[in-house]
Amino acid sequence: MKKIVKLGIIGLGARGETLLATLFEFNREEVLVSAICDVKQERIDKFHQIMKDHDYPLATAYTDYRQLIASDDVDAVLIPTSWNSHLRIAEEAMRNGKYAGIEVGGASSLDELWHLVRAAESTGVSCMMLENCCYGRNELLSLNLARQGLFGELIHCSCGYEHDLSEMAHLGNREEREVHNFRRNCDLYPTHGIGPLAKILRINRGNRFMTLTSTASKGRGFAKEAEKAGRGHVVYNIGDVITTVIKCANGETITMTHCVSLPRPYSRDFRVQGTKGLFLEDTKSVFIEGISTTREEIDVAGNPYTVHEWTPVEEVYEKYDHPIWKKFRENIVGGHGGMDALTLSAFCDAVRNHTPTPIDVYDCAAWMSLTCLSEESIAMGSMPVAVPDFTDGKWIYETVGCPGKWSLDEVYDED
Ligand SMILES: NC(=O)c1ccc[n+]([C@@H]2O[C@H](COP(=O)([O-])OP(=O)(O)OC[C@H]3O[C@@H](n4cnc5c(N)ncnc54)[C@H](O)[C@@H]3O)[C@@H](O)[C@H]2O)c1
Repeated sequence: MKKIVKLGIIGLGARGETLLATLFEFNREEVLVSAICDVKQERIDKFHQIMKDHDYPLATAYTDYRQLIASDDVDAVLIPTSWNSHLRIAEEAMRNGKYAGIEVGGASSLDELWHLVRAAESTGVSCMMLENCCYGRNELLSLNLARQGLFGELIHCSCGYEHDLSEMAHLGNREEREVHNFRRNCDLYPTHGIGPLAKILRINRGNRFMTLTSTASKGRGFAKEAEKAGRGHVVYNIGDVITTVIKCANGETITMTHCVSLPRPYSRDFRVQGTKGLFLEDTKSVFIEGISTTREEIDVAGNPYTVHEWTPVEEVYEKYDHPIWKKFRENIVGGHGGMDALTLSAFCDAVRNHTPTPIDVYDCAAWMSLTCLSEESIAMGSMPVAVPDFTDGKWIYETVGCPGKWSLDEVYDED
């Protein structure tokens, strides 16, 4: 029987609810939500009602997060508050000896990231970005294929956050996401895409992001929606499509797209490409030399040419699913197609065993910095900007931060 981890949740909005539901469904025997905190009493009341409905012990409630992180009844905290508060809360949690699980989103300044790094280094306490997409089936499949060498040497990747959220302009209530889109012009949400890619490319462990350039298109999507909702002509600063190109120390390139204000189906635009093949999210397929089909054809002039055919990803799952997914696919539970359950399990196992988290403070800093760096680049007419080395040179060595089942550096068989 595993030791029960006592968790505090700070920020009881929509994301907090999904995390709680996932903990009830997947991790109920191993985790106790012993404390909750929100500045809004109605959110606390809602959580208490959910707990009652599930015959769950009522968590101690706080409206001041400082009291929660000082509590002896909490081993670690999850922080689904907001982009402007979660880093500061995580820093204080670590300074109180509590592992911090930070929700996704980009940073507003490099300084807040340096503070986070120094807090982890000086306390020896870990923080983990709860980047659930790192445990997505296709992202872990791609990690597995990459580590088996089936893509060959990695050359180019792409990722994005392309999700029509334009209706947030209807209310214009200046809440979190909307106010960032209103005032800023940059890739606001890089981590769903860049997180899994950074792991595959061994960023901070033998590789690093060196420079980026970022370019914003004009922005019309939010203004269109605001007008539709009777708000008149409202100018949002963000461009509809933000395109960022990152260059890595080992020579790979990454293109990253942010598009949340135009009508389109959801995509994280995930692509991992090497000298022998690639994974492509939007076609839900791979092409891998020696596995995928090629056939010879003759063109109208009588010259031979080779046609490369996509292999649907369903055809490779059976053999190449990551070991975590070989087991999990039999009974997928929790939010976001199961990714949330796996991420929370990885975090809670690290807390329970006092081991480093599979996504560490250097990963958080590097991934989140892309937001404010893309902002700088756009403001300077797409000039290249340098990405800081938050590891202070530790990236030069190829290390495995967290060996074992949850590792996102190497692939281990299920325990
Ligand atoms: N990983 C994912 O798939 C995923 C999905 C959705 C949202 N998120 C992330 O989760 C976070 C929260 O998103 P949301 O949609 O739940 O937002 P939300 O605005 O619905 O909820 C945030 C809650 O935090 C509370 N809060 C804010 N500051 C606080 C503070 N200082 N102390 C205590 N409580 C505070 C607010 O009152 C609110 O109830 C964001 O960072 C978002 O990017 C992640």
